[in-house]
Amino acid sequence: MATLTITYDVFEGPEALGAADRELLAAARAALENSYSPYSNFRVGAAARLRGGAIARGWNTENAAYPMCLCAEPAALAAAANLQPGVPVTTMAITVKSPSQTVDSPASPCGSCRQQLTEHETRFGVDLRIILRGEAGPIYVFHSAKDLLPFGFASNLL
Ligand code: THU
Repeated sequence: MATLTITYDVFEGPEALGAADRELLAAARAALENSYSPYSNFRVGAAARLRGGAIARGWNTENAAYPMCLCAEPAALAAAANLQPGVPVTTMAITVKSPSQTVDSPASPCGSCRQQLTEHETRFGVDLRIILRGEAGPIYVFHSAKDLLPFGFASNLL
């Protein structure tokens, strides 16, 4: 028998965050207004804090050929790479806006996004903190993207 424990922080609201994380979450919130999501009408915004302090943003972009949709998280990673090539992202804030409900619990990144976030950690040898919030309600802060992808596929097998 083996047990896996994941430790993460829970905050009641943005006021409980430090100033830098609060700013990052606000940037993610602003970013989702750029979402191009005419098929799902579900908006996702992500803001990436680069080492050194700069912020890059991303949002989901959908396509009439549905599987081609681009999630907000890899869009933010690409924006970060464009802004400062070779500089790692150390924190990403992710938030959502639903057309049908007020999302009052943190929305978690999809499996593909988790795989890309953990690759970023491995590539740069960093922990990528993940800040999650819905439209309201609690905020979860994970200390590493790998905490969201236990037993993930990794390059040591190649
Ligand atoms: N979406 C993201 O942007 N990130 C995720 O981690 C999950 C889902 C987007 C894809 C699609 O545009 C919409 O949310 C609904 O699935």
